[in-house]
Amino acid sequence: MMAIGVLTSGGDAPGMNAAIRALVRSAVYENKEVLGIRNGYTGIFNEDAMNMDLSSVADIIHKGGTILGTSRSEKMRTEEGLIEAKKHLDAMNIEHLVVIGGDGSMHGALALSKLGQSVITIPATIDNDLGYQHGSIGFYTAIETILDAIGKIRDTSSAHKRANIVEVMGRHCGDLALYAGIAGGAESVILPEVDFDFDGVKKKMLAGKLRGKRHHIILLTEDKLSAYALAKDLEEATGIETRVTVLGYVQRGGIPTGADRINASRLGAEAITYCRGDKKSLALGLIHGELQAMDLEEALAVEKTFDRDMYHLLDKISI
Ligand code: F6P
Repeated sequence: MMAIGVLTSGGDAPGMNAAIRALVRSAVYENKEVLGIRNGYTGIFNEDAMNMDLSSVADIIHKGGTILGTSRSEKMRTEEGLIEAKKHLDAMNIEHLVVIGGDGSMHGALALSKLGQSVITIPATIDNDLGYQHGSIGFYTAIETILDAIGKIRDTSSAHKRANIVEVMGRHCGDLALYAGIAGGAESVILPEVDFDFDGVKKKMLAGKLRGKRHHIILLTEDKLSAYALAKDLEEATGIETRVTVLGYVQRGGIPTGADRINASRLGAEAITYCRGDKKSLALGLIHGELQAMDLEEALAVEKTFDRDMYHLLDKISI
């Protein structure tokens, strides 16, 4: 019997388990067989898969990480690797492959679809850097994690009258810093999409000090510049002691928020509705809140746009 394969790939994101759960339960509801491939695309090469029944997805909706495991597969970036992967998928009788992951994972799925594999992707990445959709699985949980950290850092910063640079993830996308900056009341936000203005940050710090402010939170997207060098420069320029907190992998774990669980459940269940008939090459996503399926190649071609209105809002309310 042909099966539906499911794997999680790339950086894990809270809510991946909720998506797996909804997918398996919907498949069982429709009497379809699901094979869970372990450790992302790597599991395809080892034919490392398990039959997934109702009990295999019990008690996971609230758990971070992914019960299937994940990886970043270099082999999937090569022609030979892709051909080998397709052979293993055929050997495992996988008719439709559902890939839960971010941009790199979706590109892997697209490459497989060009070799004749039916694929359906579900967006899951804390970065929210996929242009075709609004709100990938894991993004809202990561925002909550950042907000929790900002709250604690503000306590100690206020106690010491310090500034604190909080470095967040996001790779080339500033959404985590932008949205957490708005919700967390950060004084300054430094993002990949906006030119860095040292004097602007300095002025805000000095103006805050003049008003009697005891803290100053600066959110910084990773890879933009060195948080430690910036802290030194700002401290010299303002006389305000400036510390650094790199949040790192804490942002990838944790109990998924209600929003992430709901989105993941909708997307996981929806994937099964496409696992019938001809070969598919689809990207599922929540587009302006609506569950939609787009051609995978077209979805990947949609450039991520930076929300200037949100940035303007942040600028306005962070003075
Ligand atoms: O894409 C998610 C993400 O957490 C990025 O924000 C970060 O740059 C990257 O993954 C880290 O990747 P890895 O887990 O391979 O170190």
